Amino acid sequence: MSFCIAIDGPAAAGKGTISRAVAKHFGFAHLDTGLLYRATGAKTFEGLTPIEAARSLTARDLDRPDLRSGDAGQAASRVAAIPEVRAALVDFQRAFARREGGAVLDGRDIGTVICPDAEVKLYVTATDEVRAARRHRELVDSGEAVTVEEVLAELRDRDERDSARATAPLKPAPDAIVIDTTEMNIEEAVARVIALIAEAR
Ligand code: C5P
Repeated sequence: MSFCIAIDGPAAAGKGTISRAVAKHFGFAHLDTGLLYRATGAKTFEGLTPIEAARSLTARDLDRPDLRSGDAGQAASRVAAIPEVRAALVDFQRAFARREGGAVLDGRDIGTVICPDAEVKLYVTATDEVRAARRHRELVDSGEAVTVEEVLAELRDRDERDSARATAPLKPAPDAIVIDTTEMNIEEAVARVIALIAEAR
């Protein structure tokens, strides 16, 4: 039986951590769809056009160690505004969403475009400052020398581009449950989401 959980929201709101924990808890597969756009952006650094990059994406492209950087995030958000790039990635995501045994997908357009009939739709958000502080800590822990102001500017820039684009903009699905994690720690956010999903099953 398939069961799809769609988790959307702006950058660094906690979607990834929540999705991984939820997938583990319920024994579902997890797809971080941002990686598809990051890997597409990274392939353009090697001279491919964004559309060629998206159409030729393989599992190996998703394993590159440089996909988490701020530059890869910016490149991702630029290629993600191109309708043909998004179209090239739809079938893979929809097949993943409907696999046997359940799936959690996190991104920007999962509840609105990829899986509008998802059994559970969540929109995870937090204030810009809290999201920047969390992402800053992660980056510093992984050895990147960035300031919190730089991280805040990068997140705002990306969110603005993601929200303003014509195709599949960042926005909650009309029937999504909005979870604001500004005042929550990660354990509280995960517990809340697990409780919501357990109710829907
Ligand atoms: O989630 P993450 O921050 O890794 O996503 C990187 C970028 O990929 C986002 O800023 C957005 O432009 C794009 N993206 C998207 N649709 C998705 C997932 C990510 O447009 N479903």
